[in-house]
Amino acid sequence: MPQSVLREPAQTGPDGRAYVIDQMISAKSIAARVESLAHEIEAHFADTDKLIVVGLLRGSFVFIADLARELDLPVEIDFIEASSYGAAMQSSREVRILKDLRGEIEGRDVLVVEDIVDTGFTLHHVLHLLRARKPRRLEVCALLDKPSRREVEAPLRFVGFEIPDEFVVGYGIDYAQRNRNLDHIGKVRFVP
Ligand code: IMP
Ligand code: MG
Repeated sequence: MPQSVLREPAQTGPDGRAYVIDQMISAKSIAARVESLAHEIEAHFADTDKLIVVGLLRGSFVFIADLARELDLPVEIDFIEASSYGAAMQSSREVRILKDLRGEIEGRDVLVVEDIVDTGFTLHHVLHLLRARKPRRLEVCALLDKPSRREVEAPLRFVGFEIPDEFVVGYGIDYAQRNRNLDHIGKVRFVP
């Protein structure tokens, strides 16, 4: 069966529309890319005494788990949660912090881990907040980047894959809280 063909039975979204998920990036390709991203990050932070890896909840939870285990550096893991799309497929452009970091980051090396960067509003807001706390170095690693959708600047130092303007799910990423547990990245396609 070709990869682009429907892998799952149709599901129903929050508005009652049926959709299927077409595979875009396989679990194997993700694993290979995560390994090479970890090498890029290790090289960049080779001299660090401790790297604070900050996951943006909830979408980054699978990615950060895999990435952190590939990192051969002293790391600490922390999380921050920003408000997201809710049940919609559009960014609200208003970003609120729902859960802040537990630890201090002043003078530390910090790597923010994001699942996907779309308009850039979420990351822009989070970076503004974190920069004010004066970390020594602050870099961003995003698994997916949709550059064609960018509306505000979001400096990405490490990017897993650039993807076209499609709504994707899986590997931690959701559609109205569903499909986070898919082991690959797929795109949502509505069906009649
Ligand atoms: P931004 O603020 O527009 O850059 O959106 C970033 C956040 O929106 C990401 O962290 C995701 O949680 C969510 N998001 C953006 N694109 C998608 C998508 O294609 N599928 C699911 N969630 C997405
Ligand atoms: Mg997110």
